[in-house]
Amino acid sequence: MKPFNAIWQKGETSRQAHRDLPEGSYEREIGREGFSGPSSRIYHKRPPTGWSNIEGELQPRAFNLQNVPETNEPWDSLEVLYNTHVRVSLWNTPTSMSTLARNADGDLLLFIHAGDGELFCDFGHLTVRKGDYIVVPRGTMWRLEHEAPMNVLLVEATNSQYSLPDKGMLGTHAIFDPAKLDTPEMDEAFLAQQDESAWTVKIKKHNRVTKVDFPYNPLDAVGWTGDLVPVRINVEDILPVNSHRYHLPPSAHSTFMSDRFMVSTFVPRPFETDKTAIKVPFFHNNEDYDEVIFFHAGQFFSRDHIDVGMMTYHPGGITHGPHPGALKRVFEQPNSHTDEIAVMLDTRDPLQVSATDYEIEGYSRSWENS
Ligand SMILES: [Fe+2]
Repeated sequence: MKPFNAIWQKGETSRQAHRDLPEGSYEREIGREGFSGPSSRIYHKRPPTGWSNIEGELQPRAFNLQNVPETNEPWDSLEVLYNTHVRVSLWNTPTSMSTLARNADGDLLLFIHAGDGELFCDFGHLTVRKGDYIVVPRGTMWRLEHEAPMNVLLVEATNSQYSLPDKGMLGTHAIFDPAKLDTPEMDEAFLAQQDESAWTVKIKKHNRVTKVDFPYNPLDAVGWTGDLVPVRINVEDILPVNSHRYHLPPSAHSTFMSDRFMVSTFVPRPFETDKTAIKVPFFHNNEDYDEVIFFHAGQFFSRDHIDVGMMTYHPGGITHGPHPGALKRVFEQPNSHTDEIAVMLDTRDPLQVSATDYEIEGYSRSWENS
């Protein structure tokens, strides 16, 4: 909705967002509802993140999650950030689960950062691997079996569910065809694990765990039917949309939606080729959303000093944008393609930080001299 049903323009500007910037200027977008609502672009003489100090709670923050404590219990994983509608944790599991898990708090998105294994659940068996997103509807009993350690990002849609974003003008088959979503199979491996041993189910509700013991394996289904089921898509099956002529906003990479947050995925894509098109993300204010990025693989073209296994958190209310090193490549990139793979979360409600022990000291000052 355009609040005043008009577009104004003053001073030196570009007539096309994200390219043809006035000579030597830095573009900052201020907008509503992410990148789909009313917005304006302001053209600054200096990078809008060139602060010399920040005092108060709106600090850009980053976490090094490369070595978090090991546990084979998902409900003991390291909680990093949370609010009423989402809970983000990093699960570093060295061995197979010895109990079954069931989340009664919300649908759970697993993103496999490292390792591979076998997921057994009420719906059968699914082989999972690095780069997989797996949506597990709440109420599903499940466990992971694996030989080598696994590292999994857990994103709970608390009291809610996941769905696919509206693809609008892109059509229903972007950025992956829903037919590519895999579901578990009632296969030999699933039937073979239906043993007579005693199993415990750990049910999480109100973020507290209830243990329920069974004298047999309750993953004993012989079949299922319905439209509520775990689904899986691998990042390799995400086909990014791109314009060679102008930088698309991150909303073009939306992968899953929940009621109060969305998940987007950055996967390798060609850089913009038009000379005057910006080739790093534009600076923007995000008053409506907190932004979290988990870096999974590759080189992160908009950030300096951020490695695989780290997470950044930019609270709504403070401008964010490329780091000084990245900004030098705004119009000229040395490579033809990005090679980063990252998971982004935009939350409509402010997040709370739990993993303060894993915080990277001085991150908010890393834009200095920009
Ligand atoms: Fe952003």
